[in-house]
Amino acid sequence: MDITTKPRFNPSDCTMQAAVRTEYGPPEVLRIAELPRPTPKDNEVLVKIYATTVTSADCRLRSLNVPAGFGLIVRLAMGIWRPRQTVLGSEFAGAVEAIGSKVTGFKVGDRVFGMSGASMGANAQYKCADENGPLAHIPPNLSYEEAAALPFGGTTALNFFRRGGLKAGDRLLVNGASGAVGVAAVQLARDLGADVTAVCSGRNAELVRELGACRVVDYTRQDFTRLGQTYDVILDTVGTAPFVRSKPVLRKGGRLLLVLATLAQMLAAPRESLLGNRKIVAGPASERAEDVRSLAKLAQEGRLRPVIDRRYSLEQIAEAHRYVETGRKRGSVVLTVQHEPYATLS
Ligand SMILES: NC(=O)c1ccc[n+]([C@@H]2O[C@H](COP(=O)([O-])OP(=O)(O)OC[C@H]3O[C@@H](n4cnc5c(N)ncnc54)[C@H](OP(=O)(O)O)[C@@H]3O)[C@@H](O)[C@H]2O)c1
Repeated sequence: MDITTKPRFNPSDCTMQAAVRTEYGPPEVLRIAELPRPTPKDNEVLVKIYATTVTSADCRLRSLNVPAGFGLIVRLAMGIWRPRQTVLGSEFAGAVEAIGSKVTGFKVGDRVFGMSGASMGANAQYKCADENGPLAHIPPNLSYEEAAALPFGGTTALNFFRRGGLKAGDRLLVNGASGAVGVAAVQLARDLGADVTAVCSGRNAELVRELGACRVVDYTRQDFTRLGQTYDVILDTVGTAPFVRSKPVLRKGGRLLLVLATLAQMLAAPRESLLGNRKIVAGPASERAEDVRSLAKLAQEGRLRPVIDRRYSLEQIAEAHRYVETGRKRGSVVLTVQHEPYATLS
């Protein structure tokens, strides 16, 4: 295979540090280990990772604390007794270190960010990424840490809005507006021209207002179903707005977007949608290359901003998991893998 590299770089000779786990369990199963550095295939780039994240999904895949009904499915997909993918992490930002022989869209040194899909593996110093996959150039106004905080929440929100047909003028309620998916959803919906009501706790009210929410409902004091308001679209990222609760405040023709759904809710969604006059969307969001590029463009134009709650080093990954697992994070939790070679622009 013909690999274009910096002088004297030989990927097969090199190792890298990564956060690995070889069993399911609490954050303590994670440890730093030395692994072989991956070698890019013809259509891949090798990314030297500067920043990655710990997401709610990483915690679920580590602990197997998944929504009701998905336990066996996740074990079948990820490994029955122990995980097949030892390195977690789905978001990364870094610099292209080497490219495969057929890569045309990226060159060595490019600043890129993206998602690693089902292969995970982003909580490491290096990761190979398909140039045609969910990978994009980092806008010049974003640091590596900021770029790493964009795609998980952003692609999920874009995917559910697309499936739910969100459009300008729609009245949207985002339940769980301060998490990774929520902060992206509020901004993307507002940018689209929707009228956004955000449900979060009082401590996050100012944040979601800054991001574009027109109204805020503090779930610790108020029940959004009892405020006399109705919505065209409800996006639930928390699992506390199932159809039975949301239906009375969902207008006819309205759409309920269950980012977090049990297996039973997911299976019931097509039947409810077919028989009733409201649509339910559930199931995993796909990671699309064009969505990552859209997020980059929106961020470059100042229409989408990453929200970073805390930063940890790669070595502190267990601590980061402990925090994410509380379910209280605001936006994203970033792992700084290596420090930027030049000053952060933000
Ligand atoms: N279907 C898919 O493809 C897909 C994709 C991505 C994520 N997900 C799932 O979607 C869920 C959300 O992901 P995420 O990454 O956004 O989670 P996250 O970042 O961990 O969400 C944490 C946020 O939720 C808020 N929150 C907690 N309880 C709440 C409640 N009862 N009402 C309103 N807000 C509440 C917290 O605010 P306070 O501390 O103020 O309460 C915190 O800011 C996860 O369960 C994840 O597994 C699914």
